[in-house]
Amino acid sequence: MSKNNEIQKWVKTPSVSGSTSDSKIIAIANQKGGVGKTTTSVNLATSLAAVGKKVLLVDLDAQGNASTGLSIGRSERDRSAYELLFGDLSLSEVVHDTKVPGLKIVPSSMHLSGAEIELVQEKRREFKLREALRAPSADRYDYVVIDCPPSLSLTTLNALVAADSVIVPLQCEFYALEGLSQLIKTIERVKKHFNEDLEIQGVVLTMFDSRNNLSKMVAEDVREYFGDKVYKTVIPRNVRISEAPSYGLPAIVYDMSCAGSQAYIALAKEVLKQERTRIRMSANAHTDEAEKSAA
Ligand SMILES: Nc1ncnc2c1ncn2[C@@H]1O[C@H](COP(=O)(O)OP(=O)(O)O)[C@@H](O)[C@H]1O
Ligand SMILES: [Mg+2]
Repeated sequence: MSKNNEIQKWVKTPSVSGSTSDSKIIAIANQKGGVGKTTTSVNLATSLAAVGKKVLLVDLDAQGNASTGLSIGRSERDRSAYELLFGDLSLSEVVHDTKVPGLKIVPSSMHLSGAEIELVQEKRREFKLREALRAPSADRYDYVVIDCPPSLSLTTLNALVAADSVIVPLQCEFYALEGLSQLIKTIERVKKHFNEDLEIQGVVLTMFDSRNNLSKMVAEDVREYFGDKVYKTVIPRNVRISEAPSYGLPAIVYDMSCAGSQAYIALAKEVLKQERTRIRMSANAHTDEAEKSAA
């Protein structure tokens, strides 16, 4: 199948649009570095934009890999997630266009590395990002994807408090599950004290190597532990995925036909399906309630 046909087929996939007035805010979190958070954030956000969604990517990591991966130069980063977090600039003031139609980004700033200490002194310090993202604004997005730093810091806490759900990327390696109980405890704590609606939307296995038995064993373990929270789609280890950021492009734009890109497209389809199911269930719940009160 030619590349164009492939794009067409994919773009034609029915999608939800405009059914919820609010954005769906998804934090991509795991306190371990190098597990595929940024790669997942960039390629999931791009895949969602490619099916016509309005998508905003928020780069909360001081390393700024998502911003670099989307060609946002250092000089453009004076309007960044840092100013948004501290309320110095509004959302519409820190949003930048990307080369991907429908995808915008709030870039990272090196100042974010000091944000931890500065946040401690702020009032409602856990709610800074939530308030900034949910403030009335002319910009409306179907999806907001937050690329979190590799820590369970106040910055990550801000992402979890701002989000509706979390997607956890897990690298298929021996220590994949290590530290996960800490992440789950943090999510539970956020639910209890700051954001009762937060849910784990899914776990995505990344950098899977089918020739490696360890990868398979880890995938089995993770499925045993998380059950159907684990996405059916597994992201393979794929060199094209790791090359793409050096061209300032998401992998699915750099090489849409490679196995890694196809996997991220499949992941986005699963995410869209979850959303359709959620909307249908909440509509049914409303109908049930209305019928009960009418009876
Ligand atoms: N599926 C993959 N195949 C090959 N390399 C990958 C894949 N996913 C991520 N990488 C590479 O692994 C490194 C870490 O990924 P990254 O997304 O930056 O992780 P994190 O944001 O969790 O630190 C990066 O160099 C990235 O290009
Ligand atoms: Mg990262």
